[in-house]
Order: sequence, then C-alpha cells, then structure tokens
Amino acid sequence: METVVPENKSSIITSALPYANGEIHLGHIASTYLPADIYTRFLRLNGHEAYHICASDDFGTPILIKAEKEGKTPAEYVQYWNKRDYEDFTSLGISFDLFYRTSSPENVKFVQYVFTKLRENGHIYDQDIVQFYCEYDDKFLPDRYVVGKCPFCGAENQYSDLCEKCGRVPDQILEPKCAICGRPPVKKTSKHYFFKLSNFSDKLKGWLLSNSNLQPDVKNYVINWINEGLQDWDVTRDLSWGVPIPLAEAAGKVFYGWFDNHLCYISSAVKLIEDKKPGTDGKKFWNDSNILHFIGKDIVYHHYLFLPAMRMGIDEEYKLPDLIPTRGHLMLQNQKISKSRNWYIGLKQFTTEFNPDYLRFYIASIASYSQTDLNFDFDAFAEKINNELLANIGNFVNRALSFTQKTYGGKIPAARQYDDEDKAAVLEIAAAVKETGALISENETDRALRRILKFSTFLNQYFQKKQPWSNKETADTTVYIAVNAVRSLAILLEPFVPFSSEKVWTQLNLGGSIHQQSWDSASSLIVEAGHALGKVEPIFRRIEPAEIEKQKVKLGAMK
Ligand code: MF3
Ligand code: ZN
Repeated sequence: METVVPENKSSIITSALPYANGEIHLGHIASTYLPADIYTRFLRLNGHEAYHICASDDFGTPILIKAEKEGKTPAEYVQYWNKRDYEDFTSLGISFDLFYRTSSPENVKFVQYVFTKLRENGHIYDQDIVQFYCEYDDKFLPDRYVVGKCPFCGAENQYSDLCEKCGRVPDQILEPKCAICGRPPVKKTSKHYFFKLSNFSDKLKGWLLSNSNLQPDVKNYVINWINEGLQDWDVTRDLSWGVPIPLAEAAGKVFYGWFDNHLCYISSAVKLIEDKKPGTDGKKFWNDSNILHFIGKDIVYHHYLFLPAMRMGIDEEYKLPDLIPTRGHLMLQNQKISKSRNWYIGLKQFTTEFNPDYLRFYIASIASYSQTDLNFDFDAFAEKINNELLANIGNFVNRALSFTQKTYGGKIPAARQYDDEDKAAVLEIAAAVKETGALISENETDRALRRILKFSTFLNQYFQKKQPWSNKETADTTVYIAVNAVRSLAILLEPFVPFSSEKVWTQLNLGGSIHQQSWDSASSLIVEAGHALGKVEPIFRRIEPAEIEKQKVKLGAMK
C-alpha cells in the first residue's frame, strides 16, 4: 500500500449542501460531512492545499412553504439556517474553509451564465406544460405545494412529487388540494425550460466507464439508468423564490433547486480562492485541482448524471469530478431516520451532551466506504468509546505520559541500546503511519481507524512487556520510544478526533498546534531527550450506563 496523496498540488472537497430548512442531524454527518472532513484534514497534514467547501441549499418549494408558515421572508428564513448549520458543524469540528449559500450573488450570476451557455449550445428547449394553479393564492403549485391521494396505494395527504407511504412518485395525484389553503387547484398552462439530458447519454457512459476511481457498484447502476434511457429534465419552477431565469420571456420563473445547487460547489470554490489568493484565477485553480464531491446515496442520480452532464454541456469549462465518494444512510437504533416522525438526533443536542470527538470516533468507525446502510446504536456507541477510545488509546497515552511525569519529572530520558522489542516498536510506528495514510487516502475511513487501534494495542503491549517500572536498565529507552509513539498517535488521530489530539499535543508541550504538524513526521522519533512535558491528565471520560439510558428515554419520548 502506498500513501496516495493526489499528485496535483491542490484539492477541492465538497460536502452535499444541506437544505436550509431544518437542523443538521446525525444522519447527515455519517454519510457526508465527517468522511469529507477526515479526508480534508488528512490532506492538510500532508502539506497538500485542500479546501473543504459547503453551503446552505437555500431554494426550493419546501423552504418557501416553511418560511410562509413562520411568517418570515424566505431570505430571513434561510439566513437563520445558514448560520445555525454552520455553528452546529463547527461544534463537531467540521472544518469548512467556506460555508456559503446557493442564494449568494456569485451563485445566482454563475447559474444564469451556465443556463445561457447551455441554451446557446443547444441543450435547452422550452415547452408548454399543464400545471396546478391555485386561484385563491394566485400561485402555480409545483411539487410540495399540492397534496392529495396517492394513485398507487391510496394513501391520503401525500405530496404530488412523492408518496411517503409507498415511496412511489405519482404521475397524477388524486383529489389534489393546494397545500397552503386546502382548496382544489385548477390547471393552467405555463412555459417551462428543459435540459436535454438525453443529449449526454453516450458521453456520460464514456465518462463513467473511463473513470476508474468511481465506486464500481454505484457506477453499475448509474449505467443501467442510462441504458434504460434518460429523460429530459424540467428545470423551471413558477415561483418567486429561486434564481431567476435570465430571459425576458421568463419573467416570474426561477430555476428548479437541483439546477442551481450543485453549481454552488463551483461558484463558492471560485469565490474562496479569489478572496484568499488575490490575483489567482479561480477557474484555473478549479481545473488544476482534484475535485471530490462527498454525498449520500440518495443523491446519486443528481451527482452522477445531472452534474456531469451540465458541465459537459458548457464544454467542460469547469472540470468534472475526479471522485464522488458515496455512502449509505445512517439508521438510528435500527430504524430509518425521519424528521417528520421525529426519529432523529440533532447534532447540536449531541455535541452539547457528549464530547464531539466521541461522535466522530464512533461514526468514523462504522462509516464504511460503501452504500451499505449504517446503524447508530447507543449501546455500541458507549462500548466503542469505553473499550477503544478510552481503554485502548486513552490508556496508552495517559500511561506513557504520566509514567514519564512521575518517574522522570516529565523530562524525556535519552534512549540507550535498542533491543528487539524496541526495534519492532520503531518499525511499527513507521508502518502504522504509512498504512493508515494509505487507507484514508482511499477513503477507507473505518479501516484506517482500525489500523490506528491496532497500533495502539501494540503500544500498550509493548509498554506492558517492557515494564519500565521494574526494569531500570531499559526503562529510559522504553519511555523515550513510548512518548514518541504518543506524538505519532496524536498526529494519526487528528483527522478523526481533532479536539482530543490537540489536548494530547498540549500535554506533550511540543509547541504550535497539531494542525501544523506533518503526517510523515509521525513516522520518526522527534521528541528529544531532555524535553519537558506539559501538564498530564486523562483525555477521555467513561460513558456511564445511566447516561445511555437517559438518551434512549429521551429519543423514545420524542416519537
Ligand atoms: N440539498 C440537497 C439534499 O439535501 C443536496 C444538494 S447537494 C448539491 O438532498 F450539491 F447538489 F447541491
Ligand atoms: Zn391555495
């Protein structure tokens, strides 16, 4: 295994944009934000120029409806969530370089530019379609604005774009009603603009087949969709809240949210780069970078088809993604997470009640690089933290450092002759750094963490075997190696548990911040004899059964 830090000198990493209409919960974290953050932090430690970009997804009918219900303007409404989401992410140590918004002036301008160019290139046509219209509210009623009876399963009160009972998308909802006032709508004709997705079938297939980085299972079913035939895509909505369609004949019409949101990856990245590095051409920077879009499996269609097709349609002025790491959904206590059924845990609540690194550690340990669904289980959470983070990693760190404190007054002794066990430990330090790095760079987050645990187990055994408390002649060497191993461990853990790694760093008293260290330096023994440690204390606290019971009760009561 080789550590494959991308050869390009820069990377742009995006996480799917959360809708600005509700709080971030654990489900979001597992599929997207944490894996993206781990990957970005790893690249930064490798001295690679890596930027993690995200934004709130501000447009769309559900947002407009919610804002209306709360008596706010949509702009006020999304501003609240933009700020709140950013705060919540920050509480978990998700380290965005920019958290922007799809309603930014930069994005609006860019979306209109892309549309104009697609139209010039012959990929847009218009067509009159018949739509529901509420005469009372004086509105066209797209998607969630219409409720009615599902024609497939007969469930009442379903949105016209998705039946939540049977999961199907009704073509014609029965007994339609306006979701705002409850009155039956009429039908009216409206001119809509369509993106000719079908123009790109061959090109998309070629791109998917030639890109060996993409996950094979995802690729296969996307290719199946292409083989079944791609539908052209209505990108218009008759709404007041959205990016205006830049045509005089389209006054009062805006783009469908999925037309504009992923373009915000580009417009935000360009803004960040041009603000940060005056004189740099953001577009060129984009094209010279590795581009990664982290997503959950529910938005594969949009990211493997719409997104690349739209970039192809503007002559690949902005390059296509190199990788679209796609992960499954998180279940909660073996049940599907659902906001509407109140079966979810808000991120803010969790990071207020537990050390945020506990959540990062647990989620990272189950976030396999696949589409398999994961399960958040409170008992498993407590077990992982207590048995692995605390009893394995925390134990070694505290044991090595407090022994040094007690026996050597915190001063690192000079090593003497290495015996076979010492030599093996030095080799294991280098191997752990190399193998963990290779796994993170391949997005195998859970396996990388397991490699670190294996390293920590090894170190505990080394310390135990060497018994520095009774073997006076070899104790100096053991302690010298052990303290250095703590330093290595802190660096390897930084992408996973950054807050705790920083604490270990402070106890090591090596100056600066853990973020400024280099990954490769973790394979060498750098802490010198004579160096004095800072104040040593345990990093982790045990999770008690009563705390877990309390959480379960709380969750159950929400339902
Ligand atoms: N807001 C969308 C969702 O939650 C995701 C948008 S990702 C984007 O499903 F990049 F395409 F914007
Ligand atoms: Zn109405």
